[in-house]
Amino acid sequence: MRSIPTLLFTGLLILAGGSFAAYAKPAGGTEQAKLVLRADKPGSKIDRDIFGQFSEHLGAGIYGGIWVGPNSDIPNTDGYRNDVLAALKALRGPVLRWPGGCFADLYHWRDGIGPRDKRPVRLNTTWGGVEENNAFGLHEFMGFAEAIGADVYVNANVGTGSPKEVADLVEYITSPSHSALAEERRANGRAEPWKLRWLAMGNETWGCGGNMRPEYYADLVRQYATFVRVPDERKPKILASGANSEDYNWTKVLMSRAGQYIDAYSLHYYTLPEGDWSHKGPATGFGEKAWIETLSHALKMEELVRKHSAIMDKYDPKRRVALAVDEWGNWYDPEPGTNPAFLVQQNTLRDALTAAINIDIFVHHADRVRMANIAQMVNVLQAMILTDGPRMVLTPTYYVFQMYQPFQDATALPLTVNAPAYRFGSFSVPGVYAAAARGKDGLVHVALANLDPHRVMQVTIQIDGLAARSVDGQVLTADAMDAANTFAAPDRVKPAPFGDATLGKGTLTATLPAKSVVMLNLR
Ligand code: AHR
Repeated sequence: MRSIPTLLFTGLLILAGGSFAAYAKPAGGTEQAKLVLRADKPGSKIDRDIFGQFSEHLGAGIYGGIWVGPNSDIPNTDGYRNDVLAALKALRGPVLRWPGGCFADLYHWRDGIGPRDKRPVRLNTTWGGVEENNAFGLHEFMGFAEAIGADVYVNANVGTGSPKEVADLVEYITSPSHSALAEERRANGRAEPWKLRWLAMGNETWGCGGNMRPEYYADLVRQYATFVRVPDERKPKILASGANSEDYNWTKVLMSRAGQYIDAYSLHYYTLPEGDWSHKGPATGFGEKAWIETLSHALKMEELVRKHSAIMDKYDPKRRVALAVDEWGNWYDPEPGTNPAFLVQQNTLRDALTAAINIDIFVHHADRVRMANIAQMVNVLQAMILTDGPRMVLTPTYYVFQMYQPFQDATALPLTVNAPAYRFGSFSVPGVYAAAARGKDGLVHVALANLDPHRVMQVTIQIDGLAARSVDGQVLTADAMDAANTFAAPDRVKPAPFGDATLGKGTLTATLPAKSVVMLNLR
């Protein structure tokens, strides 16, 4: 590790003895931040499911992205492309949501079982009206989740489905019996039941899932949940489709009328750079205004989680019902030349920063946010992976999820941050965003994001309750705000070992490059 100059270290200790409200501003484009880490005050468990993924029948999210079929020239195992499979296995995503999204409320699961050449062709009327040949159905999804080591989250069809269709689906998946449905599953190649961890009753039922009123949908949740009659040990956790960003009335009605029938309540919030669905802004080639505006809109997630949680607290003071942010991420204008219905967008360093911000927010609210699913896993919106024919590239967002792996099932630690604001135009965001946890590996991990695209941030962390002996870490940064990994240059944004952290007496000092995400590990 690089050692910081004695003079600077002395200066920081003097500051540390006084109030954390003040900090010096050295010359040369460096800012200073003061943090206090309470390693002696363990907080809530961070459910690994907050690192969940989402895969919808949308554009090349499934077909081409995950599934190429067993006869493809693209190297595959039973139809799953090998490169994507290996990358996702390495990412250790804990849970995978499928088949939508809006697609879920038009999907009839029986279309996707049985011999592939006998499955019906339907139209995917939500996403471009393309033909859906149902080659990737329930068995293919379950097999894929198993292959990447993820638990499954099935989003059931309430919009055009029925309680019987959902009850049958659950029996087909989970029953060890000799019922007709269990035997049908066996005949289709799966002897043992699968574990179904999460089951959602519809998606965005306030919009594409049926344009319902919350009172009507609350009754449907009660009805659909009633018929999921399986023994406790096989029973999935039941989710209700929750609010569209700031719709707090939806939360109030759902929690008051159907709260006792569910295990989780969902929230969807997308970050739009310009905050406008008709002019979202491009994924690349943007300026500093779009950079800070996007970060500031990503930070809005904190307010949403806090306010929805407060309403949930009223009806569920023991926090039995999880808040599941099962769609989140950046949504840009589609890449020029692509089908706008396929939601194809490039992924840059800006996406890495907003991914870190969102994950930190979920960690800060770990007592209530116990699942989250970024939208989406491959080729759609803020993806982990982009593919083009046989080629594949890992995005900056993939690397953020990789860097945060030690946070899975870790224990959140209190971390207060006092950092100068980063400002541009009329926008102002905290210069540093951060979270800390004690991992299952026994190490303390500190995630630090420097939101300022120009200035280095010198961070001094007062550490209480931990006599750390060594520190190492990784840094993710690049030369430009919109730096991306492309098929031609796949390694432009990639984590590198971080050498700019030093341990002092009860302190840790780190120099964060401008526009970076840093993960430190303390032993
Ligand atoms: O993730 C893309 C779409 O966004 C989902 O299908 C829908 O639920 C949301 O509106």
